[in-house]
Amino acid sequence: MLEQDIERVLFSEEELDKRVSEIAAEINRDYAGKEPMLISVLRGSFVFMADLTRKIEVPCTIDFMSVSSYGKGTTSTGQVQITKDLSDDIEGKDIIVVEDILDSGNTLSYLMELLRARKPASMKLCTLLDKPDRRVKEVHVDYSGFAIPDEFVVGYGLDYAEKYRNLPYIGILKPRVYGGEG
Ligand code: XMP
Ligand code: MG
Repeated sequence: MLEQDIERVLFSEEELDKRVSEIAAEINRDYAGKEPMLISVLRGSFVFMADLTRKIEVPCTIDFMSVSSYGKGTTSTGQVQITKDLSDDIEGKDIIVVEDILDSGNTLSYLMELLRARKPASMKLCTLLDKPDRRVKEVHVDYSGFAIPDEFVVGYGLDYAEKYRNLPYIGILKPRVYGGEG
């Protein structure tokens, strides 16, 4: 079972639900009278996106994009490739980019620049998790769920080797799973 590979639970289903509700409440307040377009960066943010959008009460639209970051193991580089682009135009729209985790910042700093060039009316970043200690490139975050230590986490959309995305909570993986001690 997947559970056996988890060292400890960092955020339970209840804690995630509470925090996602708080973020949605902020968005509802900030976008009153507007119609934001939420952009989910696949694949990691799909669970967060689904929970967040169901708590958003202003009219909104959604779109998805997928990027791959060239890098070895658990570290990304500044080289980012769009593997699936948005279906819709963002020019003149109030967009909110929804991410699972902000780590070095390489992926998001590239992505935000790329989207900015398409001239949205406004652009905000919403990330569920943030590892501030790992930042290499500065990225402005508007909505952040939790700051976490530099540990590899899985669940609630986040993967290791494409697995564990279906865990309903966020947990720290046992080092033995990726070839370490433990
Ligand atoms: P950068 O370093 O460009 O990377 O900010 C962000 C991307 O790195 C992945 N990432 C993780 N994925 N558990 C994961 O499942 C983690 O602890 C983790 N840290 C970084 C993730 O794909 C994110 O979009
Ligand atoms: Mg990922």
